[in-house]
Amino acid sequence: MTAPASQQTGNMQESAFGIDIGGSGIKGALVDTRTGELKTQRVRIATPEESTPHNVAQVVLELVQRVQFDGRIGATFPAIIKNGVARSAANVDPSWIGTDVDDVFSKATGREVTVLNDADAAGLAEVRFGAARDVSGVVILLTFGTGIGSALFIDGRLVPNTELGHLEIDGHDAEDRAAASVKDQQKMSYRHWAKRVQRYMGQVEALFTPDLFIVGGGVSKDADRWVPLLDLKTPIRPAQLLNNAGIVGAAMAAAER
Ligand code: BGC
Repeated sequence: MTAPASQQTGNMQESAFGIDIGGSGIKGALVDTRTGELKTQRVRIATPEESTPHNVAQVVLELVQRVQFDGRIGATFPAIIKNGVARSAANVDPSWIGTDVDDVFSKATGREVTVLNDADAAGLAEVRFGAARDVSGVVILLTFGTGIGSALFIDGRLVPNTELGHLEIDGHDAEDRAAASVKDQQKMSYRHWAKRVQRYMGQVEALFTPDLFIVGGGVSKDADRWVPLLDLKTPIRPAQLLNNAGIVGAAMAAAER
């Protein structure tokens, strides 16, 4: 289990290699886990078309081999991860369900790899170094990408695997209506898409009454085009670490294991 973002453990490592596994790319970099800064250039390798455990593990191995570093490794994964095992596969190959992801990556690399949900990793990074730094109470990060990821924090402590992207809203899986990929596929304007995001985030707000929403994913760089269109009681801040949040959060999880 991941240590609370706000709490540094005694054996925390100063750097760790973070890997962010996404639908189109797998990215890695060495991270200074005291500052959240990248210590090497980010390397990106395209996600294999057939994103099976074997194929993805080969890419993880390739990334690890490119850095001269023998410390800890952390990786994100876009699914429920319970004790290292994938329990879902909404946007990845179904053969991942029931796979011990920690074990597959550790065997492939010959090193211990700590795996956690991608949105949880991004949330850890935002809480420690980004938009939710020093914010207490209930903080919810939502990532809008291929799917919708969520990370829930209570006073800086992560409640993992919340999967709020799969809330059923108006008879649909929420991410099938409001993910950024749906906006792209249907060539929707921000104005049109924001109506769907409003319906979705309104529901999340009604369930949790958060103190702060952080919105992440690629669309967060255009936050000024859609966040002002939302009408919610909860303050909303765009994610600050953008493309690096997953890498940084994965490295933090490994360093604080
Ligand atoms: C998955 C989540 C993931 C999110 C973002 C959803 O479809 O169920 O586990 O965090 O996509 O990648």
